[in-house]
Amino acid sequence: MKFELAVTDTGSSARAGVITTDHGIIETPIFMPVGTVASVKGISQKDLKEEVNPDIILGNTYHLYLRPQTEILKKAGGLHKFMNWDRNILTDSGGYQVYSLADRRKIKEEGVRFKSHIDGSYHNFTPENVMEIQRLIGADIIMAFDECTPYPCDYRYAKNSMHRTHRWLDRCITHFDKTPPLYGYAQALFPIVQGSTYKDLREESAEYIASAGAEGNAIGGLSVGEPAEEMYAMTEVVTNILPKEKPRYLMGVGTPINILENIALGVDMFDCVMPTRNARNGMLFTAHGTINIKNKKWEDDFSPIDESGATYVDTFYTKAYLRHLFTVNEMLGKQIATMHNLGFYLWLVREARKHILAGDFASWKSKMVQQMDKRL
Ligand code: GUN
Repeated sequence: MKFELAVTDTGSSARAGVITTDHGIIETPIFMPVGTVASVKGISQKDLKEEVNPDIILGNTYHLYLRPQTEILKKAGGLHKFMNWDRNILTDSGGYQVYSLADRRKIKEEGVRFKSHIDGSYHNFTPENVMEIQRLIGADIIMAFDECTPYPCDYRYAKNSMHRTHRWLDRCITHFDKTPPLYGYAQALFPIVQGSTYKDLREESAEYIASAGAEGNAIGGLSVGEPAEEMYAMTEVVTNILPKEKPRYLMGVGTPINILENIALGVDMFDCVMPTRNARNGMLFTAHGTINIKNKKWEDDFSPIDESGATYVDTFYTKAYLRHLFTVNEMLGKQIATMHNLGFYLWLVREARKHILAGDFASWKSKMVQQMDKRL
């Protein structure tokens, strides 16, 4: 994997770059649509490529390990072939999903024992087997096994957990280096900064992660319920320490406004279920604010879904028609909303990139943040 920084903004810490892997280039800043179980929910691979056009999507180790299971993925020749996606894929390690299982998991130094949300069966994730599973899945970028702490989190717990995440990272790196890639292309391992909302812990963690010398670095444990200002403060502490010449990935973030604010702080990569999940509930993101398409006010609004939208559905269908589809619970409604939201998120990060390259990112960002902070 290679990362080249094209431009760093003068009015902020925003950067525009290009990541190159064996599955092609990723122009940054980038938003990665979430395809948890080998499918970006509600959109086909063809439409995703042709209409939304992301350079990379995300999959989840936890879900893929449970279903279809690694044996099937190995037989298929890896996740790219299984789902017929020939561009980049990143897999999260399971550190976050296992954390979400709350009372269904037990964390020990060796790893995590958890109960499947599907059939209640017991399984173990360790730094070592999570590297092996991610080798079998075969994503281009794989994540270290970490613990994502909740918010709020007491200082002692956050500190102990962060140190364990660091020890797990050492085990991940040792095991990753011992296991070759299986499908003829390279994989990069990204470590994850933790430390909850404590500045000193975030500094210590960022320094530890930076010293691992990985090809890219991630920031975890944010967007777990803390106020946005605390998230931005933690991002800033960490991006000031992580090496400038490596991509930075802020995990699980966020709203369109969160994304622009974090780009301004030097983040290059994002993922979030928000555009896809909220679409299925009838929430549309636009450059002028959010729309709840289920509201009665759209009942006889025959204007396009989004006049300046990035995908064909934006001008092909009207708001009144999309509202009707939600009212009668037609699955087409969810599909249209999904394509619209993903198209908007990808438009937003591409536009951010253009403005970073043009040198007016800070003023454009302020205008956009103000514009998007509305309910229509
Ligand atoms: N996704 C969102 N936050 C996190 C995190 O802290 N760790 C991992 N592994 N995934 C995440």
